[in-house]
Amino acid sequence: MKKFSRIMAIISFILVMALLFTACGKKVSTDVEENGDQLPVGTDINEPPADDESPKIKEIKQAGKIVLGTSADYPPYEFHKEIDGKDTIVGFDIEIAKAIAKDLGVELEIKDMDFDGLLLALNAGKVDFVIAGMTPDPERDVEFSKIYYNALQGLLVHADNKDVYKTIDDLTGKRIGAQKGAIQEKLAKKEIKDLKLKALNKIPDLVLEVKHKKIDAVLMEMPVAEAYAANNDDLFLMPVELIDEEGGSAVAAKRGEKGLIDFANKTLDRLEKEGSIEKFVIEAVEMVE
Ligand code: ARG
Repeated sequence: MKKFSRIMAIISFILVMALLFTACGKKVSTDVEENGDQLPVGTDINEPPADDESPKIKEIKQAGKIVLGTSADYPPYEFHKEIDGKDTIVGFDIEIAKAIAKDLGVELEIKDMDFDGLLLALNAGKVDFVIAGMTPDPERDVEFSKIYYNALQGLLVHADNKDVYKTIDDLTGKRIGAQKGAIQEKLAKKEIKDLKLKALNKIPDLVLEVKHKKIDAVLMEMPVAEAYAANNDDLFLMPVELIDEEGGSAVAAKRGEKGLIDFANKTLDRLEKEGSIEKFVIEAVEMVE
C-alpha cells in the first residue's frame, strides 16, 4: 500500500511538472518581452530589444508582412520602372521600406495610391505605414519618424519659357500646379503672389499640364523636379530654390502607433550610420530614365 502511494506521488509529481512545463512553453514569448523591459537603457544587443513589440508590431510579425502605402509618382523617391519586363516600384523610399521590413523579419507589400489618399488609408488600417517623401506637418494627424531626407523645392516650367520665368516674382499671377494634398499647395500659395493654383492628384499629370502649357509652372521637391527636367527636353528647372523650413521626409504610422515609429527610427539610425540612405538616393537617381 505504502509502495502504491509512493508510485502515485511520483506519477502526480511528473504530471504536475509536465503541466508546468507546457504552460511555461506557451509563455516563452511574453517572458522574453518582460525581461526585455528590464534591460538597462543603452544595452547593446544585436536583436532589437523586445520592448519594440508593440501590439502593432506583433500583428505585423504574425501576418508575416508589412503593407506600405506610397504614391509612386515621385522619382527618385518612388516610381514605376520596368525591370526584367515587369512593372516594379523602385526608389530610395522603397529601399528604406525594405530595410524596415527586413529588420522586422517580414515581407514588404506595396500599395500604390494617390498621395492625397495615403493618410486616409493609414488611419483606416489599409496600410501599416507610409513612406512617400512625406513631410511631417502638424495638420497631418499621424505619427512621424525622424526626418530621413531633406530637400529643397524646385519649380519646373516649359523649356520655351526658360527666359520668361527666371525669378519667383516672374510667376506672380500665373497658373501654378502642385500635387493635391501635398505641402506644395500651401508653399506655392505662401511664396507666389496672386497665383492661380491647380492641384492634381498625380505628378505626371501636372508635368503634362506644363508640357501642354496649360499651367505655367509646377512645384515639387527639388530632386523630383531635377529628375523630370533631366529626362524631358521640353521641361526646364527654374534657377530658384524654395525652402520649406519644416521640410524633409519622414515615415508615417497611424496615430498612436509609436512602437512602429520607434522601430522605424532604429532602422533609420542604422541606415544613416552605414551611409545607406545616401547610397539608396544615388542608386535611385541612376535608375530614373
Ligand atoms: N513632401 C510633400 C508632402 O509631404 C510632397 C510629397 C509627395 N510625394 C509623392 N510620393 N508624390 O506633402
